[in-house]
Amino acid sequence: MADRQTGVGSKADLKPGTGAAGPARPSTSNLPLPASNMPYIHQPVLLAEVLQLLDPQPGEIFVDATVGGGGHSAAIAPRLLPGGRLVGLDQDAAAIKAAGERLAPLGAAVELIQANFQDLPRILPRRGIRAVDGLLFDLGVSSYQLDNPERGFSYQAEAPLDMRMTQGQELTAATIVNTWSEEKLTAIIWQYGEERWAKRIASFIVSARQKAPITTTTQLVDIIKAAIPAGARRSGHHPAKRTFQALRIAINGELDALRTTMEQLDKILAPGGRVGVITFHSLEDRIVKQAFQRWSGRCTCPPGLPVCTCNSRRLLELLTRKPVAPAAAEIAANPRARSARLRVARRVLKEKDGE
Ligand SMILES: C[S@@+](CC[C@H](N)C(=O)[O-])C[C@H]1O[C@@H](n2cnc3c(N)ncnc32)[C@H](O)[C@@H]1O
Repeated sequence: MADRQTGVGSKADLKPGTGAAGPARPSTSNLPLPASNMPYIHQPVLLAEVLQLLDPQPGEIFVDATVGGGGHSAAIAPRLLPGGRLVGLDQDAAAIKAAGERLAPLGAAVELIQANFQDLPRILPRRGIRAVDGLLFDLGVSSYQLDNPERGFSYQAEAPLDMRMTQGQELTAATIVNTWSEEKLTAIIWQYGEERWAKRIASFIVSARQKAPITTTTQLVDIIKAAIPAGARRSGHHPAKRTFQALRIAINGELDALRTTMEQLDKILAPGGRVGVITFHSLEDRIVKQAFQRWSGRCTCPPGLPVCTCNSRRLLELLTRKPVAPAAAEIAANPRARSARLRVARRVLKEKDGE
């Protein structure tokens, strides 16, 4: 997958707080922020469970790999004091700006970087960090990204077909919908959306774009609705939900970034360090579950192989046997938390050979 890291070691690095000068506001003058002044609103999910299981302690180093508006970080960072430090990453400039404002009172204890988390093994050593005691991923999109009509993530608002988390990136939803082949469209809608009507939707998209380019979310929603038979449309979710999820995953390389990062946990986590991942759909959860299993020493080779080829190593012990789901009260207060699932594991203090 292409390296979509933006700005590490460049002007997009933001460091709220510079020590002697006291808490400083990050400079955002050269960031490609969205034009609107929409407030960054996002409710952190499973916050109590994250704090309990990741257990941040004074003096520790934590990475919030998806800092968003800083909701989880604002609760974690004070627990690292005195002496600890939190590094927050997000590939979205608007999130870095919002987190910078929210976390500014924590000064030099917090550093924010606009980057893709798959680059952590390169980003951390540049900051003198060999390994971290805590690592949190809260995957997917924030409420701000979903609700900001300029970003084109939502099937419920009229917007240009965009869906990029990194605004500088070239590939947009409009490019995919208007230029990718019918086969490729079918494949992503099927694989990333788990949409049974993928073939019909791709075929309807191709027919529609032969008449005129598809430029807005509502145009695409209408095409999807027309492709799904009325009987099937009546049940369950919004008919465009799965196709929009598929496009978002493809545009932002979401599953590749997650897979790559889960493969690199041995380069990021310190012995005794905890890693927590909040997922929002089964494709993400499967990647985390399998990576944790492999790192906990379970052979993940397909059954019947004469020799083990997955090279499983006992790096992690699982702190959650089953994924943790939000309590009913959290779902009632924040319906978007409904599909959140948290898995947490801890790096063993010493790896034993031959397990
Ligand atoms: C659900 S939000 C996180 C919200 C945050 N925990 C909070 O409480 O405010 C997910 C964030 O992850 C970011 N993101 C998704 N994939 C990323 C990746 N591969 N690298 C960096 N950031 C990513 C998105 O831009 C978004 O801001």
